[in-house]
Amino acid sequence: MSAPRGQWNSKIGFIMAAAGSAIGLGNIWRFPYVVGENGGGAFVFFYIIFVILIGLPYMFAELSLGRATQKNPVGAINKIRPKSFWRLAGFLGVITGVGILSFYAVIAGWTVAYIYKMFTGNVGDFSAFVADPGGEVFLFVLFVLITTLIVQKGVSEGIEKWSKILMPIFFILLLSLVVYSLTLDGASKGLEFYLKPDFSKITGRTLLAALGQAFFSLSLGMGTMITYGSYLSKNDNLITSSVSVAIFDTLIALFAGLIIFPALFAMGKDPAAGPALVFVILPEMFLEMPGGLIVGSLFFVLLSVAALTSTISLLEVPVSYMIDDHKVDRKKIVWGVAGFTLLLGIPSALSQGANDFFTNFGLIPASYTGPDFLSQMSFLFGDIALAVGAISLSIFVGWVWGVDRASDEIEQGAPFFRKTRWLWSFIIRYVIPVVILLVLLNTVHIF
Ligand code: TRP
Repeated sequence: MSAPRGQWNSKIGFIMAAAGSAIGLGNIWRFPYVVGENGGGAFVFFYIIFVILIGLPYMFAELSLGRATQKNPVGAINKIRPKSFWRLAGFLGVITGVGILSFYAVIAGWTVAYIYKMFTGNVGDFSAFVADPGGEVFLFVLFVLITTLIVQKGVSEGIEKWSKILMPIFFILLLSLVVYSLTLDGASKGLEFYLKPDFSKITGRTLLAALGQAFFSLSLGMGTMITYGSYLSKNDNLITSSVSVAIFDTLIALFAGLIIFPALFAMGKDPAAGPALVFVILPEMFLEMPGGLIVGSLFFVLLSVAALTSTISLLEVPVSYMIDDHKVDRKKIVWGVAGFTLLLGIPSALSQGANDFFTNFGLIPASYTGPDFLSQMSFLFGDIALAVGAISLSIFVGWVWGVDRASDEIEQGAPFFRKTRWLWSFIIRYVIPVVILLVLLNTVHIF
């Protein structure tokens, strides 16, 4: 991918890179705590519905737009409607990439620290750890630097090869942890909370959270898949690739829940602990488990790698935009975008107790999200911006570029799509924009 317009080495290379982007902290860290905050089973139910009915068909739209135009989000739109205001939808994606990266890398920094903590068995108190300003900033900067160095080199060589080996190991480790967690005393209470839907707990905020989580977890709504699709060849089958990515991604999130909730209820803790959840429950589980320190540090190594393949995809969107449209040198622009991310991310790094102002930032009211700067960024970029981006991009593909051209593109490499084009066209033109809009309006209390 370091060439101006590279291509994936193989079909599996694309699936691994797209899955690498999708699978990350969103599955292991964000999913369980959002489930916990939103009351459990009913949220999980809507999450799965949204992945299948909205996320997947929408993923075809981003990938086809990218492959057809061979461009980044802004360039893709500009190629179809030159100099139109639709380009704003692309810009929103570019900005959202930096916005998400700025807080995501803070959490990713924590996972790196926990490799060491688990290895030494000296875990300490989570809230004291995140309230230490020097440590927080150091870990955050470190993670942004690693991401930058890899994106600077182009990702196909290093990361594509690594993730092919490491992701399957991660999958197997998670599966074994599921088995372990299910044998803990009191596991069944956790399973009940996690899997038995109580629909009386569903509110507008819950639905947005489920939709936002579906988009966040699949890396949708900001043009990541436009960018990754632009490196695809015409022979690739967009549909089977998307379906494999979505299945992997959803399974890993569901596994994370199957590990966390039984363990959490076995320990008698509160599921609504927020972003701290995974970092409190899992280390405690590892400490009590035979051989847990080794397993625990291996777990955090693999989680750090999963986070890295995601931060790479976040940085790649603004970088590919600058390269395509401003003809700047990859090696230079990467550092520019990284510098901006660092500035934007320091407040998040300091918002977990290190600095009062950022910890109690509270610009967005408490009925939506926590007052700390990190939660506010996560709500603004991880929920709202992705939803707005997805509405704009689905309208653009469905109505402006047009479902016929998009369907022709999808059909290349996936001939069986011919029979279902009408259904997809209906979903992309009507269902997706309307459902997302309703959920969004409902959240900001317009209904
Ligand atoms: N999907 C990743 C995760 O679950 C995070 C991510 C990477 C992302 N690229 C994205 C989220 C683009 C939204 C949009 O960890």
